[in-house]
Amino acid sequence: HGIEINCFKEIDSTNDEAKKNGKNHFSIFVAPKQSDGKGRCGRKFESPGGLYFSIFLKKDELVFADILTIRAVVAVVRVLKNIGLEVGVKWVNDVFIDNKKVCGILTESLINMYGDITDIVVGIGINIGTDQSKFSKEVRSVAGVIGDGIDKNLIVAKILNELSDIFKIERGIIIDEYKSYLIVLNKKIYYSIDGSIKEGLALDIDENGSLVILENEKIRKLSYGDVSIKL
Ligand code: BTN
Repeated sequence: HGIEINCFKEIDSTNDEAKKNGKNHFSIFVAPKQSDGKGRCGRKFESPGGLYFSIFLKKDELVFADILTIRAVVAVVRVLKNIGLEVGVKWVNDVFIDNKKVCGILTESLINMYGDITDIVVGIGINIGTDQSKFSKEVRSVAGVIGDGIDKNLIVAKILNELSDIFKIERGIIIDEYKSYLIVLNKKIYYSIDGSIKEGLALDIDENGSLVILENEKIRKLSYGDVSIKL
């Protein structure tokens, strides 16, 4: 069966559009540019030209509605590796090439009046053919860009294809694959939590996708959403 694809020339944020107008399970909202791209933790995601898209999901129609961000990371990594790129993942949802972030993922949930999650929007932004000079100064040094020659339509299609499989695979298998892409394990990391910066050794990912770290000889688990980490 076909999927619904909504294309925009320019938009504020494909996630916002999907949250506002998404109706059908697995419908797509895609744009080559965003004027108000959203990042994690209320940050902005500079989107001066690249591939930006969101997938609207009905929770009840998903076989597994867990670890969706991690599932999306796995889909992106599979596709970028498949076209010959050497990519790594910084927990939880940043895809890196040569120590620079080329892709970010933002998952948002919609709830009903009882507080139950009804729909989920998974947003993916990849710097494909982005003009580096269009990023603001501080982003320019951290954002990586991948080739001009890469066909964005093909990349979206491949990612959606991977995702529709990955959404049907049990969590443990996906976590193992995700772990194999991580560049943070066994490394010292700095993370900020409630405004203070702490240091720890990244040990593992648990079955929920939380990062297990050793901090002052104590084991601690960081669940995503509330921390940002630096290598
Ligand atoms: C992050 O790195 O903090 C997450 C960035 C997520 C960006 C994507 S681009 C498509 C979708 N629309 C948005 O406004 N954000 C996501």
